[in-house]
Amino acid sequence: MEYSVKSGSADKQRVSCVVVGVFKRRSPSEAATSLDAAGDALISSVMRRGDMDGELGSTLMLHRPAGLFCDRILLVGCGKERDFDEAAFRRVHRVAAKTLNRSGAIDVANYLSELRVKGRDCAWQIKNAVLATEEALYRFDACRGSDYKAPRRKLDRMSLAVTSRADLPAGEAALAEAQAMTAGVSLARDLGNLPGNICTPSYLADQARTLSKEHSRIKTRVLEEEDMQKLGMGALLAVSSGSRQPAKLIVMEFMNGSKGDKPVVLVGKGLTFDAGGISIKPSAAMDEMKYDMCGGASVFGAMKAAALQDLKINLVGVVPSSENLPDGQAVKPGDIVTSMSGITIEILNTDAEGRLILCDALTYVEKNYDPEIVVDMATLTGACVVALGAHASGLFTDKDPLARKLINAGESVGDRAWRLPLWSDYQSQLKSPFADVANVGGRDAGAITAACFLHRFTKKLYWAHLDIAGSAWTTGSNKSATGRPVPLLFQFLLNQAASGDAN
Ligand code: BES
Ligand code: MN
Ligand code: ZN
Repeated sequence: MEYSVKSGSADKQRVSCVVVGVFKRRSPSEAATSLDAAGDALISSVMRRGDMDGELGSTLMLHRPAGLFCDRILLVGCGKERDFDEAAFRRVHRVAAKTLNRSGAIDVANYLSELRVKGRDCAWQIKNAVLATEEALYRFDACRGSDYKAPRRKLDRMSLAVTSRADLPAGEAALAEAQAMTAGVSLARDLGNLPGNICTPSYLADQARTLSKEHSRIKTRVLEEEDMQKLGMGALLAVSSGSRQPAKLIVMEFMNGSKGDKPVVLVGKGLTFDAGGISIKPSAAMDEMKYDMCGGASVFGAMKAAALQDLKINLVGVVPSSENLPDGQAVKPGDIVTSMSGITIEILNTDAEGRLILCDALTYVEKNYDPEIVVDMATLTGACVVALGAHASGLFTDKDPLARKLINAGESVGDRAWRLPLWSDYQSQLKSPFADVANVGGRDAGAITAACFLHRFTKKLYWAHLDIAGSAWTTGSNKSATGRPVPLLFQFLLNQAASGDAN
């Protein structure tokens, strides 16, 4: 879709649809009022007759309004005006996008973007309007057969309203950021939604090469299993030992900042299918374990967004990628492996594999870069889903300023994270009678002990970990990757680039 930012009154728009909000208790928004005044009191009469009461998320399409230049008016209920918050703002944009997409409207003037949200400015409004609209319009048809006909979509252009001309520059800057962000989100969603037989570690490595062809500033390097062998990545190799697909360690560099600046490094779990290995998972919903590479996908998405935005930042993305399958050569419960760091690990449960591929990737980062900040993203534990559900990613770090920045970045783009403790008290659950550390810490506090495991490998780093097991995809009939936490990451990078300091 083609977006633009516009100021100008709603009753002057010569488009196939004008979208305006109405609040509960028959209270039209400013834009709705101007349409009503120029348009023969159509909106107030529709509201008086009870066809639109402003209920949050309701819609009513009006055709050929008299006295106006537009073909349609879409009324969107916005709930009570004083309850109109960030979540409501995003919701009305999603609802409007879905409704418009089913209509014949081609070009749209959207006035929902000028609805005020307490504490937020016009840049926030434009950015979140685009994010929510694109979220609602996303489709994944890459795996349909040749006879499949996607529903024809007419919707093609949308202008987003700002209240005054003075807001145009800020609105346009926000639009550019939002478009880079949604391109990153879409890439992450597409990679996530691809099935495990297509999206293998080799496929992800090819995608990284494609990304550097599209964006010449991104340099890609892929480490093969023999390279991992030489580097002593016993933990990563243990996970891949049961798979016929070779593991890959994908490294992408986007050194677009000042020469001497230390990079921000993003590390993402790229487990392209997690059957659990010898500690095999129950079969119910196992298909969803194709999403176990969504942390890696978010690295791809953030790199792409940064490149599109030409962000002046040094950024490195690292994606350890493997399958986790049972096999005669698979790693077994009780096996002890030596990680690249030298720390030995007793693998008591082969299904706790994410931390194994991540610990070697994190050590690789420590040894090959001198990072300012390292953030890893992983669909790491079912326990995190139990703790936080789908609404927030779990955030773990012992660096308070970093926690604050990540939380604020996510909060401003509807991609929340919530901090859980990383206290050393939990470390005792990872004791092994035979090795330096066990790869599981029992049932209690599973998301925290997983983070504590990673913490042992990041002592020298300024590091945070995001457990995205609940946020990376939605289950049920609308099953899909969400692209999270690309919005959080990219907003964080934007803020970093703007502030000029790395932490
Ligand atoms: N990829 C899973 C975590 C997961 C499970 C994410 C369900 C989303 C939904 C991870 O590799 C895993 O299997 N973790 C185990 C750890 C346990 C063995 C300590 C888990 O959460 O059950
Ligand atoms: Mn697992
Ligand atoms: Zn996993």
